[in-house]
Amino acid sequence: MTAASKIDVFISKESIEKRVLELAEMINHDYQNQEIILVCVLNGSFIFCADLIRHIKIPVQVEMVSLSSYEGTESTGQVSFRLDVKQSLVGKNIIIVEDIVDTGLTINFLLQHMKLKNLKSLKLCSLLLKRARLKIPTPVDYLGFDIEDKFVIGYGLDYDGRFRELPYIGVYGA
Ligand code: IMP
Repeated sequence: MTAASKIDVFISKESIEKRVLELAEMINHDYQNQEIILVCVLNGSFIFCADLIRHIKIPVQVEMVSLSSYEGTESTGQVSFRLDVKQSLVGKNIIIVEDIVDTGLTINFLLQHMKLKNLKSLKLCSLLLKRARLKIPTPVDYLGFDIEDKFVIGYGLDYDGRFRELPYIGVYGA
């Protein structure tokens, strides 16, 4: 990608806002009279999680985790924790909030880790899924958009640390 590359809008700001509200309403409905903890997967999910949580109407906490697996545009497949949750999650309703499930390697590492923690429940909320790229079957309980195999940026998603600030999801044009 060069500075001269053009960024095409792939999912508009308005479409994202509408879908994030719908996802929050599903969560509000499914967890009536319960408490939840959103586990935000840094760095890519911070904007999605911040928008999502502001539509949540039930008692909610947020925790952050950070995993490393990506270099440039390719997953290395070697996942490790840079930051783990600090509080005990035993007996809690956990919703992992992810920006994008691509090969599924990163999220499955986290899901396996979470399953060892005696949770009350565990669900996955992802803004995006590249279904054609999945290497591990990964059910997404709350999915924003099922997208084709394109490298996307914006709304928290980066290319080598850049473009997270874009209010829409974009792809590079020629
Ligand atoms: P996976 O392990 O291949 O599923 O990769 C998941 C992680 O890779 C996401 O949390 C993102 O950080 C990153 N990623 C995957 N695809 C894209 C993309 O198209 N744009 C930006 N980041 C991506």
